[in-house]
Amino acid sequence: MESLSNEYYKPILKWAGGKRQLLPALIKNIPEKFNTYYEPFIGGAALLISLYSLNKINESVISDTNKDLYNLYKTIKENPQQLIDELNNLEFKNNKDDYYKARELFNSINDPIERSALLIYLNRHGYNGLYRVNSSNKFNVPFGKYNNPGMPSSGNIMALSELFQSCTIMNSDFELTVNNARKDDFVYFDPPYMPLSKTSYFTGYTHSGFDEKDQERLAKSFQKLSDKGVYVMESNSSTDFIKELYKDFNLLEVDARRNINSVGTKRNSIKELIITNYGVA
Ligand SMILES: C[S@@+](CC[C@H](N)C(=O)[O-])C[C@H]1O[C@@H](n2cnc3c(N)ncnc32)[C@H](O)[C@@H]1O
Repeated sequence: MESLSNEYYKPILKWAGGKRQLLPALIKNIPEKFNTYYEPFIGGAALLISLYSLNKINESVISDTNKDLYNLYKTIKENPQQLIDELNNLEFKNNKDDYYKARELFNSINDPIERSALLIYLNRHGYNGLYRVNSSNKFNVPFGKYNNPGMPSSGNIMALSELFQSCTIMNSDFELTVNNARKDDFVYFDPPYMPLSKTSYFTGYTHSGFDEKDQERLAKSFQKLSDKGVYVMESNSSTDFIKELYKDFNLLEVDARRNINSVGTKRNSIKELIITNYGVA
């Protein structure tokens, strides 16, 4: 297979916890060969897209509990041209009034294609690419005031649509997503991170958040997959709690800058972990 052009193979959304900073280190640490690729916390899909563009993936299974994200990726897979038409028809510009009108419309409609187009607009024009909903499950991220947020090209959407043809897209909890993973498959876990401190706690990904119990559940799932002969890689924050959970595996500490931090002035370099159950060079 020829290597795919990188121009169009890029994420559609800015996503909290997006892995663009860590990508080179992650790519360096993937297993040499594997069968099906699983990414159960898909978010912005940065690693999936890179691995496809490097011809490392033939078949994949992705999932996220965020319904809007699921709906967007399904739409890109199944109805890319309708999504492009819908985006071309959007009349919202880059100003506060238009943004809040778009947000209101998004919160009042159910059509999957219209919702996908609006999600892209809101993600690019809203504050920090956040996805956050209130207690009635209404999207409530404020306007982002960016100079030139831009929208994805039709080439970008078409390229991702082609890529998604060999990808099973799910809307389920990570445990269910990896249920069918077999020996020599490869699972990459990128869970919502543990808070580094109470004040930096950020639960903007989904309605429910991801707590210590979920982290423990994830570590068990990691162990179970490892026992089955699946290659497993995970990124997580470098805290004592996480190091203890994965003490039997390979821990690589790397420098990374968070995309999203609740304290804007503290966006400094912080340590993250790349955990694997296999040796890497
Ligand atoms: C750190 S983000 C993933 C970032 C992604 N790797 C990227 O590059 O953009 C974590 C994702 O996990 C999802 N999530 C939260 N709880 C989950 C669960 N129990 N099962 C599956 N996905 C979950 C969130 O909706 C969020 O999109």
